[in-house]
Amino acid sequence: MTTWHKAAETSALAEKEVIGVEVGGVEIAIYRLDDGYFATSNICTHQFAFLSEGYVNDGCVECPLHQAFFDIRTGAVKEGPPEAPLKTFPVKVEGSDILVALS
Ligand code: FES
Repeated sequence: MTTWHKAAETSALAEKEVIGVEVGGVEIAIYRLDDGYFATSNICTHQFAFLSEGYVNDGCVECPLHQAFFDIRTGAVKEGPPEAPLKTFPVKVEGSDILVALS
């Protein structure tokens, strides 16, 4: 059974495209794209950098450290040095709450 955790309120993403949150001890980046909200690990798979401090462009997030690009919807590496994709998490919205499933 999926366990959903509250990660943020939609108002936190009203003027931003990505925020970093900690949910159950896991660092997660929550994104607002044209077609909804998405969540990935907030830590780059290359070295230690928070993706929530990077830029969101065309469905990708750019790592602030070495400018890798990850596809936000799939976690796939689109460009740059990382070899491993980002872990992604299911997201749903209930009222004004953004919920993520960690497993
Ligand atoms: S730490 Fe993200 S690309 Fe190097």
